[in-house]
Amino acid sequence: MTAIVDVRGLRKVYSKTRGEPVVAVKGLDLTLGTPGTVHGFLGPNGSGKTTTIRCLLGLIRPTSGNANVFGADSTTSFHRVAHRVGAIVENPKMFPNFSGRKNLALLAKLGGIDSSEIDRVLGIVGLADRDADTFDSYSLGMKQRLAIGAALLKNPDLLILDEPANGLDPAGIAEMRVLIRSIADEGKAVLVSSHQLAEIEHVCDEVTIISQGELVRSGSLDHVRSTEGSERVVVSITNRDSAMNVLNGAGFSALPLPNASEFTVEVGASDTAAITRLLAEQGLYLEGLRVERATLESAFLNLTGGASPPPPGGAPQAPNENGAGQ
Ligand SMILES: Nc1ncnc2c1ncn2[C@@H]1O[C@H](COP(=O)(O)OP(=O)(O)OP(=O)(O)O)[C@@H](O)[C@H]1O
Ligand SMILES: [Mg+2]
Repeated sequence: MTAIVDVRGLRKVYSKTRGEPVVAVKGLDLTLGTPGTVHGFLGPNGSGKTTTIRCLLGLIRPTSGNANVFGADSTTSFHRVAHRVGAIVENPKMFPNFSGRKNLALLAKLGGIDSSEIDRVLGIVGLADRDADTFDSYSLGMKQRLAIGAALLKNPDLLILDEPANGLDPAGIAEMRVLIRSIADEGKAVLVSSHQLAEIEHVCDEVTIISQGELVRSGSLDHVRSTEGSERVVVSITNRDSAMNVLNGAGFSALPLPNASEFTVEVGASDTAAITRLLAEQGLYLEGLRVERATLESAFLNLTGGASPPPPGGAPQAPNENGAGQ
């Protein structure tokens, strides 16, 4: 079966008028094979996500390698499959003084899409009761959702979203996750990029993690998280320094947390008995112990040797970098 997205050995070098060329993508592979799947395309700022997506949409030409969508080479024949692909990657093409509905109506008309689709997408993106409000009166989250609505007008089989959670507050991010999941549950494949691993990991079925233009790991979310991520145990104890000394002396790696009575140990759940026993043997008794699941972020840190993605809320970017495209 033809893959929905198939990137092989993709390489993109931006040449500059001054200075060294920038190698943005260095031989990347990426596959999205199954409808109804959310594929997270994750990596820190500047790791090559937008460049890859632009190649996939036929907006820029790869230096070498291939980007195929539904079997079509994006560089030469993206137009053949464009009707099956909705994307948000370019600047918004919304009119600020037009209502959400009017903006969608305009885009539908331009795309030769039946106006009955407008109510369908307004419902999907949760803007049915705010459709008459002007675009500039929308919150950032609503603007992002309207942009997704625009990308859904042609009822695409593949939706590509470049950083849809960018700039959103926690409630907006949660809404975005629910929306992405519901779109995938309709049977669409979703490729969603993010530099904030924690924001998006809960909605992904599979992930491709990149760093500095190179593939770091790809696979099902559970697999990547459990094989590469570290679980950690958070220990609460009054006599924290003594407890940490005991565990560090026994070969564990205990690190203090901001709370004066807490520290963490980078181990799996199976080691909790050993921790409890070691401390009790020294007359140190726990007040609490909890195991924190491996996260995608811990997997990323382990895989890249600590090349940390920006912290949540970090790396400010113009909120309108994303917009309705395609
Ligand atoms: N048009 C361009 N000309 C020159 N260099 C570019 C251009 N676009 C991107 N780059 C460079 O290519 C590298 C990858 O950029 P890209 O935008 O693909 O990363 P990204 O993963 O999308 O980052 P972010 O999370 O910040 O959106 C960066 O070093 C960037 O500066
Ligand atoms: Mg980007």
